[in-house]
Amino acid sequence: MNFRIKTAIHALKGAAQKNTPLCAYIYDLPALAEHAKGMVEALPKNCELYYAAKANPEAQVLATLAPIVDGFEAASGGELAWLNACEPDVPLIFGGPGKLVTELEQAVNLGVQAIHVESLTELHRIEQICLSSGKICTVMLRMNISLQGLPSTKLTMGGKPTPFGFDESELTQLLEAVKQSKYLVLQGFHFHLMSHQLDRAAHLALMALYFKTFKHWCELYQLDVPLLNVGGGIGIDYARPEQLFDWQAFCADLNELIKDFKLTETTIRFECGRYVSANCGYYVMQVLDIKKNHGQYFAIGHGGTHHFRTPAAQNHDHPFFVCAGEAEQSQYSDFAYPEIIRQAVTLVGQLCTPKDVLASQQYVESLAIGDYLVFSQAGAYAWNISHQNFLMHAPPVIHFID
Ligand SMILES: Cc1ncc(COP(=O)(O)O)c(C=O)c1O
Repeated sequence: MNFRIKTAIHALKGAAQKNTPLCAYIYDLPALAEHAKGMVEALPKNCELYYAAKANPEAQVLATLAPIVDGFEAASGGELAWLNACEPDVPLIFGGPGKLVTELEQAVNLGVQAIHVESLTELHRIEQICLSSGKICTVMLRMNISLQGLPSTKLTMGGKPTPFGFDESELTQLLEAVKQSKYLVLQGFHFHLMSHQLDRAAHLALMALYFKTFKHWCELYQLDVPLLNVGGGIGIDYARPEQLFDWQAFCADLNELIKDFKLTETTIRFECGRYVSANCGYYVMQVLDIKKNHGQYFAIGHGGTHHFRTPAAQNHDHPFFVCAGEAEQSQYSDFAYPEIIRQAVTLVGQLCTPKDVLASQQYVESLAIGDYLVFSQAGAYAWNISHQNFLMHAPPVIHFID
């Protein structure tokens, strides 16, 4: 894999203008396709995989995933329009808090598979839209249930007071409202209680809680609904990137769990983002300068957190490797460019803020000006979550290996 990335780096550098150090995102599309196919193939028969496009909505990423996944999840009108324009044949679902009336109209007009409803107000607005257009809308109810002692992760959206989903105490009223409506069709329930899940057993326990709750509600309210959406949330261990969440083993256990709960006739839908696309992306900064300050080395790369906010957003040291570049030659015999040999170095960008750090005090065998810092696991919540306009630096080159 690194060979493909190194080849791409050298090709990009070859094509770049003289005196323009490289700054690029490289996406390995064959690797993305292989990973996504593996995910889908491992799933139990009654499960579906939707891709949460918020993780990375690049058109080429969507085109790679379109023939593999069951659909895309959109979280705004902008995403709905973009996903529909890029891949008009791929089924869409629409979720997220604070949807505009115009966005709800857009979703109803597009005929999305389901709108994930987040509040009674939203349900009422969809009803109004359907009433005036005469259209029917399929809805899923997003529920925020108690975690019942299950472990949470560093990004937990439910099991506690949050703006996401319905409180269980509203369920009777909600179901009554849907029942009274001529336009709303209840398809099932939606849960997305946490992201960044690294613990397979904990995630399986979460699935068991969803299954138990779903069965209980179906019995209690005599519901015959076809679908249970179990959200996304599978994490990437940025501190130990080689420790991939064992999706195959998770799916094997999930298969047993589905049988235990007698849910083989219910469609179970995943809407994963990070775990699908994180590993296909690389952010590359060529080293511009190396300096020592108050006893510590710093390498300043061409780029920074305005392109790649992931480490700052998640407060971690991002995994990287060094790819040898072209050493800059000094015109003067009495000046030697600084180099780092077997030392710890902090990798920073070009922004005038001490927060522009991608990895802190990392050991390197050697690092010179002109070398490439290649940050892996940069294919999800990376370029698209970054504050790109800050300082008006040029954007990175975006390159797709296909
Ligand atoms: C409702 C919902 N579904 C799916 C996802 C995707 O989560 P992840 O990227 O952790 O798989 C998110 C992420 O925030 C979400 O809010």
